[in-house]
Order: sequence, then structure tokens, then C-alpha cells
Amino acid sequence: MDGVERPVWAPGDIDLSRPSIARVYDYWLGGAHNFAVDRAVGDKVIADVPVLRSVILNHRAFLRRAVRYLLAHGIRQFLDLGSGIPTVGNVHEIAQSVDPTARVVYVDIDPVAVAHSRAILTGNELVGVLQTDVRDARAVLDSPEVRDMLDFDQPIAVLMVALLHFVPDAEDPAGVVAAYRDVIPAGSFLAVSHAGHEDGEWDPAWDDAKGLYNRGVSPITYRDRSSVESLFKGFDLVAPGVARLPLWHPESPDDLGDDATHFIGYAAVGRKP
Ligand SMILES: C[S@@+](CC[C@H](N)C(=O)[O-])C[C@H]1O[C@@H](n2cnc3c(N)ncnc32)[C@H](O)[C@@H]1O
Repeated sequence: MDGVERPVWAPGDIDLSRPSIARVYDYWLGGAHNFAVDRAVGDKVIADVPVLRSVILNHRAFLRRAVRYLLAHGIRQFLDLGSGIPTVGNVHEIAQSVDPTARVVYVDIDPVAVAHSRAILTGNELVGVLQTDVRDARAVLDSPEVRDMLDFDQPIAVLMVALLHFVPDAEDPAGVVAAYRDVIPAGSFLAVSHAGHEDGEWDPAWDDAKGLYNRGVSPITYRDRSSVESLFKGFDLVAPGVARLPLWHPESPDDLGDDATHFIGYAAVGRKP
């Protein structure tokens, strides 16, 4: 039992002594499904890189804006890859508030994310939850959760929000995207947000925090605008194309923040023609 008390929501097989991407992120978003080890890394990284708090909130805000955009463009089915630990404003809440028949499948590799998703979704017949590595697209697409919930004759939105920076170049992130692109019908969408910056925009004062996260939680691959754009092969980017996260369809001055043009992260939505 690792000397740490295991809460009832924590599946028995998880290591309470190692931080996880999903639990550190949950902590940063103000959630309750994290352990001391997650909070320790989370606090240290934020202390060194205070701007990160706004970066994280911006990814989540993009998710909400993108889902609303997709609903407005007729999408009623969502495949949310790397969906994380549910917090306020989840995809099914936004989608089903617009159309109670909207369907969502949440996929994450993290056992806490999946257990908590299942717990809050009990009784919602139009939402599926799957614990799988999204890099194994076949396993996701052939799963009963996906096959039973999503109709591949109708447009589907594939969401990869704050996910692909956890897929290094050596693991072919564009290939991962393509595996999903190839099976969704014309008129489907891809929404991506991604950690990244152009040459010269990284502050060396952030290196320690980056190293700590990379070693302790998971390596992150930052990509520049053109690398993020290359993930959209086979999609037509909707305006404004690959944008700094706050500049993708901002809905209020709060979305824009102080320095949107140098924001460390990008977002885009593309439509499969
Ligand atoms: C930074 S969180 C983002 C969560 C959510 N998309 C959001 O925007 O709030 C990244 C999530 O991706 C998940 N993840 C990372 N690599 C994954 C993989 N190969 N397969 C499935 N999930 C993965 C993590 O467990 C984590 O929950």
C-alpha cells in the first residue's frame, strides 16, 4: 500500500508513489482526484513557471470553445482522446446541453481518469468510457465502447486536446492522427491543442521545471506552428488555422489574457473534406 492512504476512487492497481499526467493536470485544474506526489510536482512546476497556470486553463477553455463550435456546425458525435479526469465543463455536458441525443466516447490511458469518468457517467446511456492507449488506434476503433456508441456513417469530431505533446516524434504523432482520420467520414472534424512555441520563445528560466516534469511525470514534445499544422494532413483547417490557443475563436477578453500572441501553445480545428 505504498504508505499512502488509498481513497475509494483510486483503482487498486495504481502506483500511488508516482505522479501521473492526468492527476497532475487534475490538480492544476482544481480537481480532487490527485495524490500528494502529484501535488508536489504540480506545485514545483507552477512555482518555476507561473505562466503555466494560464496555459492549462487555456487548453481547457479551448476544449469548451471547440465543442461549441463543432455543435454549431452540426456535430453530434465526439471521440475525446486523452480525455483526462472529468472536471467542470466536460464534453458530454456541453454537447448534451445543446442536444440531449449527442454521443461521446471518452478514452484515456489513466486508470483514475477512467474510473472517475465511469463513476460520474453511470446511467448516461449516450456516453462511453474506454481505458486504452490512443496510439493504438485499432484498439480504440474496434472497441465495443466506440463501435456501439458512434455511427461511422455520420460525422464525428475527434478531440485531441492537450494530448499530442505526449507523443514524441519517434512515435509518429501524424500517423496516430491519420489512423483516426482514415476511418471517420467526410464532414468529420479534428480539434487539437498542443504545447508549443517558435524558436527563441522558450525562456531558459523554465528549463528546471520542464526537466522535472519530463523526468517525473512524462516527456513533453513542444512543437512549433508548422509542426502542429502538419498534424492536420487530410483536413481543411477552419479559420483562423493554427492559432495561439487564446486566439482560436476567443469569446471574451478573459479568453485572450495578457499576451496571446506569444502564448506557449497552439490550437486548430480541421474538417475532413
Ligand atoms: C493534459 S491532460 C488533458 C486532458 C483533457 N484532454 C483536457 O483537455 O482537459 C492529457 C491526458 O492525456 C492522457 N494521455 C496521455 N497519453 C495518452 C495515451 N497514449 N493514450 C491515452 N491517453 C493518454 C493522460 O492520461 C491525460 O489524462
